[in-house]
Amino acid sequence: MNRRTFLQWASSVSFLAASPVSSPAPAKHSITTKPIIKTNEVIPAIGMGTWLTFDIPPDSPQRPDRIEVLKAFFESGGTLIDSSPMYGHAEETVGYCLQQMAHESPLFAASKIWSPIANIGIQQMGNSESLWKVKPMDLMQIHNLVAWKKHLPMLREWKRQGRIRYLGVTTSHGRRHEDLEQLLKQEQFDFVQLTYNIDDDRTEKRLLPLAQDLGINVIANRPFQRGGLIDRYKDKPLPALATELGCATWAQYFLLHTISHPAITCAIPATTRVDHMKENMATLKLPLPDQSTRNEMRKVFHQTG
Ligand SMILES: NC(=O)c1ccc[n+]([C@@H]2O[C@H](COP(=O)([O-])OP(=O)(O)OC[C@H]3O[C@@H](n4cnc5c(N)ncnc54)[C@H](OP(=O)(O)O)[C@@H]3O)[C@@H](O)[C@H]2O)c1
Repeated sequence: MNRRTFLQWASSVSFLAASPVSSPAPAKHSITTKPIIKTNEVIPAIGMGTWLTFDIPPDSPQRPDRIEVLKAFFESGGTLIDSSPMYGHAEETVGYCLQQMAHESPLFAASKIWSPIANIGIQQMGNSESLWKVKPMDLMQIHNLVAWKKHLPMLREWKRQGRIRYLGVTTSHGRRHEDLEQLLKQEQFDFVQLTYNIDDDRTEKRLLPLAQDLGINVIANRPFQRGGLIDRYKDKPLPALATELGCATWAQYFLLHTISHPAITCAIPATTRVDHMKENMATLKLPLPDQSTRNEMRKVFHQTG
């Protein structure tokens, strides 16, 4: 996202401070944003994942439906889209949708390198640029720490050249947390992506505080445990606390809990549906609960489950 597009966007959306708010209610069109620590650029606290949901072959009749999903995302103030060469046709579908929409909203393009071979990493970077038709890519991440020693020097060089703006590393499902901790201490990253949600708090003790100490932004993947959280809770009545916090659905309750952790910059739920996109993004308009309310949210979650 360049400065000009950001300023145009910023003038059309007002912001809600990222610090916890107990009252008063936010202005109608405010959305929660968080700063990128090293530059102070702000991004909305909910982005969009693309694993499975955007893996649509070019000849599929479902492909145009994703344009509407993306439109709803941008119309709600979203900017960060996360993808990977590992996600089949996802990057291609994102690029197709962006072209079809002739979109003018700011985009924060985040993809990954996912290969044990350095040269393939270089090809993947080139593919991402041409599939998304975006230069520079905003964030390039090493997917699941794969061959990080081979890819990190290239990422650093691309950042130095301005070919990418930020560099990061990802994991998920609680995998390789000890390796990740070591890596974050040893090398410099702008972003780390990991699994964090109301039911998966494995990163709370060490990785999230470490990211805060080191000034690394955190992207929370699998905010709904691949949809499993919603499947488990969809028939359970919403607790009174959800209503008090302004959440109309369990999805919003889960997202609000995730994005209100002070170390989390944004969560990246994935969806195939326009109504789910609007529901998820509406969470950006809710005040962030403070830590004691967050603790209560988790307690109520476990009591209900
Ligand atoms: N190692 C890595 O780097 C890594 C690993 C995992 C994930 N990720 C990233 O994180 C993103 C998110 O994780 P994820 O895709 O695994 O799972 P997720 O976002 O936790 O869950 C996605 C599922 O939730 C459902 N959903 C979304 N919004 C909903 C709503 N409001 N109500 C009901 N259901 C809803 C979707 O179904 P519908 O289509 O029906 O809405 C979809 O099946 C990925 O897409 C990917 O970009 C990265």
